[in-house]
Amino acid sequence: MTQPCTDAANDVAVGTPGRKPDRARFALRERTRAEHEATEAAFAPFDLTVADDYRQFLIAHAMALPRLELGVTGLGWTGWQPRYHLLADDLAALGAFLPAPMIAPAISPVSAWGVQYVLEGSKLGGTVLSGRLPAGVPARYLRPAPDMPVRWQAFCAALDAAAANGGPEWMNEVIDSAIETFQAFRRSADALAGDLS
Ligand code: HEM
Repeated sequence: MTQPCTDAANDVAVGTPGRKPDRARFALRERTRAEHEATEAAFAPFDLTVADDYRQFLIAHAMALPRLELGVTGLGWTGWQPRYHLLADDLAALGAFLPAPMIAPAISPVSAWGVQYVLEGSKLGGTVLSGRLPAGVPARYLRPAPDMPVRWQAFCAALDAAAANGGPEWMNEVIDSAIETFQAFRRSADALAGDLS
């Protein structure tokens, strides 16, 4: 498991003097906890030790991900990087076609932060999930890169700084978009879970 973004005992905000570190991230985590739990439950039927289930799991992600990634490109966190190509590589290695992408809501410069929170944060869960895969399975998408914890820290610091500038309305829009992003993944999981044998 990865470490939290920063030391909670450290009361000095990253790049934002006087603010508690990771304040925006923790607010997002709190306000989207139920969404995360529901999304986790939606993906629970996919047994990642079974080849067919893992393929369907990746296909579900490949439905939700591309329009979201396209929508946040050039917005929000300057360090943000897409992962759809990794997913495409894994599916190709498994002999599966890419599915048609799901439609995503319009993404604004503010709501992009909520989408990126969910996309970046999902890599934390990826550490746990990729540990369940049998050896040798293609997992470029699910297995986090070695620099993931450092990048997560950088994202949380950038999120904090943007939230400090944006105020409560800004934060509400980011929370709403994070919730919509969880729902998009949940819809694609629900669509594919019915095909599991
Ligand atoms: C499929 C089942 C899933 C499991 C078992 C799971 C598990 C986890 C775990 C264990 C963490 C915390 C890691 C840590 O703090 O070190 C986490 C964090 C997170 N996951 Fe998931 N996850 C799942 C699916 C997803 C999906 C599909 C998404 C979104 C696409 C997602 C988004 C997030 C986010 C945003 C966080 C960060 C929360 C925070 O701010 O701490 N997860 N997940």
